[in-house]
Amino acid sequence: MSLSSEYFDGLYAADADPWGIERGWYEERKRAVVLAALPRPRYERAFEPGCAGGALSVALAPRCDELVCWDPAARAVETTGERLADHPHARVEQGALPGSTPDGTFDLVVASEVVYYLDADDRAAFWDAVEACLRPGGHLLAVHWLREAPEYPVEGAGVHDELAARTALARTVRHDEADFRLEVYARASEARSVAEETGLR
Ligand SMILES: C[S@@+](CC[C@H](N)C(=O)[O-])C[C@H]1O[C@@H](n2cnc3c(N)ncnc32)[C@H](O)[C@@H]1O
Repeated sequence: MSLSSEYFDGLYAADADPWGIERGWYEERKRAVVLAALPRPRYERAFEPGCAGGALSVALAPRCDELVCWDPAARAVETTGERLADHPHARVEQGALPGSTPDGTFDLVVASEVVYYLDADDRAAFWDAVEACLRPGGHLLAVHWLREAPEYPVEGAGVHDELAARTALARTVRHDEADFRLEVYARASEARSVAEETGLR
């Protein structure tokens, strides 16, 4: 079963930053890797599900014309809303995957440390939703912890294995290290390297 929103509310009741996302070099560096891995300097409309307290959201906001963030946990939504107050083009809503995605389409979806909370059916529904909402030329960036997390429905590597099996998507970026895997996907018919994106030969 997917982990419930009550599970995450419980974590936030005990600690405003349950994963120490704000507290150390590991997460700060990972955010820098995420930002560096985005193939484009700017995106028109981005979706970040599972935004937690908004640490990545505030880093993504300057790279987007519009940013929509979701989290099921009320405390996370409140914190992210406060942090995004200086970015009127960015907003946070209380929402959970898979459900639908927010209304409209996106040229960037950032799934950072969130898909392993979903069970197999919900993950399949999420990948379907991403494929449906990606604008032409759009990107999905997925990044997940690779070490053991027995309480999650699937390991991080399993999330990325599933993504690799989606025939409608093709990988354009892969960053692998002992702790996490980061990949960027585009529609298979539209996938281009960063050099191709920028006109380099
Ligand atoms: C580890 S934090 C990731 C934070 C942020 N994406 C990052 O990488 O810095 C995971 C967040 O996902 C949220 N979450 C859990 N299940 C979710 C779901 N089904 N849909 C969207 N978000 C979910 C949790 O409430 C939590 O805030």
